[in-house]
Amino acid sequence: MKWRPNRHSHLTIQEQIVDWIKSRIERGDWSVGTKIPTQRQLAMEFNVNRSTVQLAIDELKADGFLESKMGSGVFVANNSWNVLLDKAQPNWQQHIESSIHKPNYHTIQLINEYEQKNHIIRLGTGELSPELLPTKQIEQSLKAISLDSKAIGYSSPQGSEKLRGILCNYLEKRGIQTDPENILIVSGALQALQLIAIGLLEEGSIVFQEQPSYLNSIHPFQSSGMRIISVLRDVHLADTLRRLKRKRQSLFYCVPTLHNPTGNNWSVEERENFYNVCKELQIPIIEDDVYHELLFESSLPAIKSFDTSGQVLYIGSVSKTLSPGLRIGWVVAPSPVVRRLADIKMQTDYGSSAFSQEIVAHWISSGLYERHLIKLREQLRKRATFVEEILEQQFKKIATWKKSDGGFYIWLRFHEPIVNKTLFLNLVNQNVLINPGYIYETRDLHHIRISYAYASFEELKEGLNILLELIQH
Ligand SMILES: Cc1ncc(COP(=O)(O)O)c(C=O)c1O
Repeated sequence: MKWRPNRHSHLTIQEQIVDWIKSRIERGDWSVGTKIPTQRQLAMEFNVNRSTVQLAIDELKADGFLESKMGSGVFVANNSWNVLLDKAQPNWQQHIESSIHKPNYHTIQLINEYEQKNHIIRLGTGELSPELLPTKQIEQSLKAISLDSKAIGYSSPQGSEKLRGILCNYLEKRGIQTDPENILIVSGALQALQLIAIGLLEEGSIVFQEQPSYLNSIHPFQSSGMRIISVLRDVHLADTLRRLKRKRQSLFYCVPTLHNPTGNNWSVEERENFYNVCKELQIPIIEDDVYHELLFESSLPAIKSFDTSGQVLYIGSVSKTLSPGLRIGWVVAPSPVVRRLADIKMQTDYGSSAFSQEIVAHWISSGLYERHLIKLREQLRKRATFVEEILEQQFKKIATWKKSDGGFYIWLRFHEPIVNKTLFLNLVNQNVLINPGYIYETRDLHHIRISYAYASFEELKEGLNILLELIQH
């Protein structure tokens, strides 16, 4: 909401607020049944006294535009006064609630909203800080890129042939032997998950995962009618999967390198065992490998590098390393799978941005990308050490954590189950945004995913201080 009352208007502030709320209802932005923001939120947004907002809301209630529901808040009313209005607009709330895709968790909606505010300290954001993005170099590289007219038309269904060829060479260094026909360029790794969900699985299929999981914070599989089952990756894994799978279609989603949110890494042996179990049971694996270039020490092999039977759908992206705004990722898979996903992609967005693909092709083929990664790892390591020192000095008595091996995150575990929605909201009130553990595992009230990648050093210090003070009180 950007609107604020005009203090020089001939209308009173209250009248302006009444008109503004009415116009939101008339335009259908706040359809019948919508819960409107609290008086406190509105007063803050409008920069006016809460009592003025209260008077405006009372007037709208008296006129039948709004109604209170005991203990739940104020809603756009569906009464006789609104008949005209109702006739003029469809019941969007009903449309929204009965549609296929699940909404984000309320906490994630708030995170998305508050991330846009400049004054907020973002302690959880899974994104590179603006100062870590190579903005100037990308700008310069635009001058070095020559475009032919084909390069700026619609991209081919599987994505730019040039980029796919370049990726083959790049992936070879990761031990993955592949051909351009086995690569699909996608608009970020998230789109890859969405395409797999709607293009490869029937309703009622099972998606296995480890708990906690990034997958719980997004809903591509859940929204397509799949069941998500969390399992332990222990010595009984094969029996567990066999028992739960029965005859149903299934696949296993995993992030074996720099896992989101825990930052954990599987050993080489764990990767091999896991691959063998899934191969024996013919359970395809989705290997989400978007963080691997950010390992501080030597690399761990991709599970895809053991894959001799087309068992692994491998996902990469430049979002965590170069620029999430480019929206470029890739899937490596058997060619029928690539063709199927490409077919759906063409029905969805006619291919990923041709400009972005040119930029990524240039960065990888010129060596700019690998030189940038070397610097980026150094900077992330400094940030990780900085946060770990603060934790060591101030959080030792109340929490535990593991030293970061790379990437963005520290999975901070509090001894007490204190990480609930109230803590999240209290922190928001103090302008600090966290990613609480319960968005990655609903019952988890012990963890916060701290990201050292986004906030500045000063903000990290200040944000952690505020967090500590709040917890201690
Ligand atoms: C594990 C994992 N996979 C996929 C994504 C989505 O990445 P992209 O921006 O490439 O869609 C994220 C982003 O947070 C992630 O953490």
